[in-house]
Amino acid sequence: MQFPSRGNWSGAVGFVLAAMGSAVGLGNVWRYPYITGQYGGAAFILLYIGCVLAIGVPLLMAEFLIGRKTQRNPVGAFRALRPGSPWVLTGWLGIVAGFVILSYYGVVAGWVLHYVYLSAINAFAGASPDQIAAMFAALSSNHILQIFWLMILMLLTIGVVVRGVSSGIETGNKIMMPLLFVLLLGLMVYAAQTPGAATGLDFLLHPKWEKLGPIAVLEALGQALFSLSLGMGAMITYGSYLSRDTSLVKCSLFVAAGDTLVAILAGFVVFPLVFSFGLEPSVGPGLIFQTMPIAFAQLPGGYWVALAFFVLLTFAALTSTISLLEVACAYFIDEQGWSRRRASWTLGGAIFLLGIPSALGGEFLDFMDSLATNYLLPCGALLIALFTGWGLSHNERRTEFYLADASTVRFRGWSILIRFVTPVALVLIFLHQLRIL
Ligand code: TRP
Repeated sequence: MQFPSRGNWSGAVGFVLAAMGSAVGLGNVWRYPYITGQYGGAAFILLYIGCVLAIGVPLLMAEFLIGRKTQRNPVGAFRALRPGSPWVLTGWLGIVAGFVILSYYGVVAGWVLHYVYLSAINAFAGASPDQIAAMFAALSSNHILQIFWLMILMLLTIGVVVRGVSSGIETGNKIMMPLLFVLLLGLMVYAAQTPGAATGLDFLLHPKWEKLGPIAVLEALGQALFSLSLGMGAMITYGSYLSRDTSLVKCSLFVAAGDTLVAILAGFVVFPLVFSFGLEPSVGPGLIFQTMPIAFAQLPGGYWVALAFFVLLTFAALTSTISLLEVACAYFIDEQGWSRRRASWTLGGAIFLLGIPSALGGEFLDFMDSLATNYLLPCGALLIALFTGWGLSHNERRTEFYLADASTVRFRGWSILIRFVTPVALVLIFLHQLRIL
């Protein structure tokens, strides 16, 4: 069955850029560099690439395959493949996860918008580290301001999603993703000339093998899942607009490579700046909002560097929020017969309301983050792997796989990974998240 009215990508390039846009997000720019530093630099990068190839790519292919095969949203996809079975809960879990993630991710993306504004009015110039810390504190305690930026962020997201798959989402990604790469490369060249470049590179590239342990492996796996937007059907949804003549292997490899490259390059921007000013490569969002502006305040041309950095982050965040909103929209369009206009505005509005508690206090935001990354995503990813590897028959898997890629070797390799390696790895992450391991 085909649903021509649902919309389609104009081709493989548009699809790959959009999926890469979903994957490349705030997770790449702050979380990845920071954990790389913490877990031994280059050694961790190699481990991470291993996880992306062994777990990320097979799962990406699984989500694309389910989407392309059914041409449906996550709930509709499981319903179409196994009518009346509990597998449909996997789809529901994805829709719920999309709401949860977007509600708090939108608040953090709203902070990024505020920092674009602060950069534009040259607020960092000559500011002392204390003044810069005070700017973040002022934002954190100003609920109205955070709600305002969350609203702007949601309006931008809705504005893209409402225009549909090819003229909205694809066009948005085709503009923002190349600009993101240009800004990233420009910032990298700049960072390489700062005095801390050598220390920063050493911090990232000097392999500290002793820091690699079982926990580092689990961290790398968890990060790979989050960074590739896996486990909640975002990639099922994007795969559902894909035509059958596109190779799943190639697309998945491109998306994973682009996402990983941005993460690694982000480290090459962040750490030279951090070390040039003797700053702490500290934890999480603080690195972006509190530490980086200290560097911008003192750098020659800091005004433009700051602006480029936060605009880059805005593009990274926006291409991800678009895909998060699209998951829920696809469900209401496919299954409830809503128009795209009604779905985007209603769901975007609902998610805005759900985001307000996260804007009111950091604790709720942390709770939503932990709920999504520690429970919903690993659980969803495990169910998707089990469904693809064991729920679908060998023939169902092969027929869909072979449509654009009739390679026995690649099919066999993927089957082994998705049936055995991925589920075992996911169970281990899950136990780790639950503090059992
Ligand atoms: N991959 C995004 C990032 O790195 C975050 C994310 C996680 C996401 N799950 C998602 C984005 C699902 C879109 C859809 O920041």
